[in-house]
Amino acid sequence: MAILMCPPDHFAVEYEINPWMKVQNAVDRPRAQQQWQELFLTYRRLGQTVELAQPMPGNPDMVFTANAGVVRNGKAVLSHFHHPERQGEEPFWWAAFHNRGYQVTLMPKDVSFEGAGDALFVGERLFCGYGFRTDRASHELVRDALDVEVVSLELVDPSFYHLDTCFCPLSKDVVMFAPEAFSATSAKLIRRMVRHVIEVPTSVALDFVCNGVTIGDQVVSSTGLENLAEDLHHAGFRTTSLPMTEFMKAGGGVRCLSLFLD
Ligand code: ARG
Repeated sequence: MAILMCPPDHFAVEYEINPWMKVQNAVDRPRAQQQWQELFLTYRRLGQTVELAQPMPGNPDMVFTANAGVVRNGKAVLSHFHHPERQGEEPFWWAAFHNRGYQVTLMPKDVSFEGAGDALFVGERLFCGYGFRTDRASHELVRDALDVEVVSLELVDPSFYHLDTCFCPLSKDVVMFAPEAFSATSAKLIRRMVRHVIEVPTSVALDFVCNGVTIGDQVVSSTGLENLAEDLHHAGFRTTSLPMTEFMKAGGGVRCLSLFLD
């Protein structure tokens, strides 16, 4: 399995489409480069293949490859962004999938879907978020395109506007998630569908801790992960935490910067 990343050459906060983004809170570009590089090197050290997408000027959020689409078994569902500010990325992501040989499905024009930002596999089941970026109507289209079981989850807190900001699959039966980011019904559904859940307090989740990835038994996330180290060690995981301050200014962390290809 390879991970798709996009170098932060054009990364900046140039518009505000989530509560984290403040144009006046400028990104420190050299520091962003350094934080991105550290994540890249961490993946390499953990034996992962990292593929790179070409960063395009005028698309400052392209660094968040998780939002390109969602992939499974040679098929990709391309994102159709909710905000016009990011829709310019779509042809580049289409090409990235097409050139890698994926059979690409597009969303209808009036249905938004933000890829792996709102669609995460736990084993064979695809958990999909809706409420801010992704329309619920996309879920059945994704289900049909990828031929997988989909579980729809309602997001209710604008600070956790993508599923991957508050829900993190750690293995096929372990998930960490921030219950308050979900409607009561959806939080219950998660507890019912996943064998082992680690519940993350909102105060901890606000450090983008749930925006992590797992490589084998190694959880990689932002520095706040240390607050959960004990729980995670208990559940059999090791932890690597990395500073993500520059990407958090745009509302992203480790997972947003990483798209798992297959
Ligand atoms: N500024 C980007 C946006 O608001 C951040 C995307 C974060 N990506 C993610 N997978 N949560 O669209």
